[in-house]
Amino acid sequence: MSDSVFRKKSVVKAVADIDDGESSHLNKVLGVRDLTSFGIAAIIGAGIFSTIGRASVNGGPAVSLLFVFTAIACVFTALSYAQFASTVPVSGSAYTYAYVSFGEIFAWIIGWALILEYAVSNMVVAISWSEYFTSMLEGFGVHFPSYWATDYGSAARAYEQVQASATPGDLPAHTRELAQAFQDAPALGRLRFIADLPAGFVTVLITSLVYVGIKESRTASNLLVVLKLAVIGLVIAAGAFYVKPENWSPFAPNGVSGVLSGVASVFFAFIGFDSISTTAEECKNPQRDLPRAMIYCLIICTVLYVLITLVLTGMVNYKELGVDDPLAYVFQKVGLDAIAGVISVSAVIAITSALLVYQLGQPRIWMTMSRDGLLWPRFSKIHPRYRTPSFATIVTGFLVAIPSLFLDMQFFIDLTSVGTFFAFILVCGGILFLDAKGLSKHSKFKVPYVNGKYIVGLALLVALFFVLRAGGLLSGISEKPLLAVFWLTWAVFAVLSFRYNFSLLPVLGILTNLYLMTELGISNWAIFVVWLIIGLVIYFSYGYRKSKLAVADAE
Ligand code: ALA
Repeated sequence: MSDSVFRKKSVVKAVADIDDGESSHLNKVLGVRDLTSFGIAAIIGAGIFSTIGRASVNGGPAVSLLFVFTAIACVFTALSYAQFASTVPVSGSAYTYAYVSFGEIFAWIIGWALILEYAVSNMVVAISWSEYFTSMLEGFGVHFPSYWATDYGSAARAYEQVQASATPGDLPAHTRELAQAFQDAPALGRLRFIADLPAGFVTVLITSLVYVGIKESRTASNLLVVLKLAVIGLVIAAGAFYVKPENWSPFAPNGVSGVLSGVASVFFAFIGFDSISTTAEECKNPQRDLPRAMIYCLIICTVLYVLITLVLTGMVNYKELGVDDPLAYVFQKVGLDAIAGVISVSAVIAITSALLVYQLGQPRIWMTMSRDGLLWPRFSKIHPRYRTPSFATIVTGFLVAIPSLFLDMQFFIDLTSVGTFFAFILVCGGILFLDAKGLSKHSKFKVPYVNGKYIVGLALLVALFFVLRAGGLLSGISEKPLLAVFWLTWAVFAVLSFRYNFSLLPVLGILTNLYLMTELGISNWAIFVVWLIIGLVIYFSYGYRKSKLAVADAE
């Protein structure tokens, strides 16, 4: 059994499978501009429009540096994704990459983790869409009942907080509104009917679009991205005139730990550049276009994020940014209500396009897993007319819409980030494997090779020197036990790099992603482990026996 769970797909077979399968009939219509546009559509969404405010409250203007650091980790990862996408241009993305490099069980684990990145992050995006949508309606004078635009848990918690408070009037307005929603909600006995209807509604709407066809999705995505970039340009250009440099001082009011407490929010804002690799089978020239598009969209978004962070923290004091709609809020603060209104409307549009990309990506991963026999055959069924993975698309719709009606956003942000970091680390590791096995010869794009033989170890010594000198190694580990995993991994890679001349950039990708992952807290890791166990139970009860590789072995 131990051998069979590590059975690997060959690179040549992974590519040949596309031509055998029904899915070879997918329309090949996407070029580099469409892909860059899909990437931007995926990256710029709820993160930058919602969670950046909270990250700035703790980190201050220095959060802009966290964006740069996170972008660097993402660039290492994007290069690795790009090499894989040019080697195995198959819709399964990281799932397929793990299948050819580490074997079936890792492939399954990655596929399972990608559900967190695509489906669970889309729950966050849908909920965030709902928040902006209802506040936009409010701007037009239409009041949407708040008990039908929130989740039960948040409303119940706010109600308890208000009940427990001696001076409820001092609580934040948002808490008081939620408590009111709880009180006003229709009730049957003690049961209250509270659900986030706009979140469910927009998911169903977008899923229908994705079901109908990739061409229609492409047109919609390109259009939405142009609008989104125009509005972000407006925020930066108009906001720049209202920046007061004194707001940037102190630059990092709560030190490094304040800045790093924003990792989940900042990373969430970057998630998505990798999702375009799921459209590999619908690209005109995936080997050439996918690597380029990934790097282009990452560079564009990093520049925009850093500028937006500097503008926001320059326009108002960072302490004021703990709101759900920081981009609109800062313009209200300086008396530009019209611009604030435009931004609210545009946020709804921006978040819609992010939803579209993830609803497009998730079914394509399932399609590939099903083609390999790890999921039921229906998941790779292609609609005869629309040429889309129809059954998988419908399942994705339900999977995202139902939890987004009822559940709280915050939990999902952390869970998405843990799962995505994990997938990124395995993709970077996969490149080292391709190199070691000589499989990189199939790659039309390669991660630029810098020999890590001495650099990884030397960098470790330098880092340890500084941390030890500051007396921070043991105290750091006692505060965040996961840091031990990070230092240990670095030491292991120092030895392996020395021995096998590892390519430096994927190693840096693994280490930077792992470092950021340690910032997420142990409870998130624990939930992620539970998620993995559930996935393994499903694998051993179905995919392990039905895998095409298993069937071929048996024959
Ligand atoms: N990066 C995506 C967003 O911010 C997930 O919505």
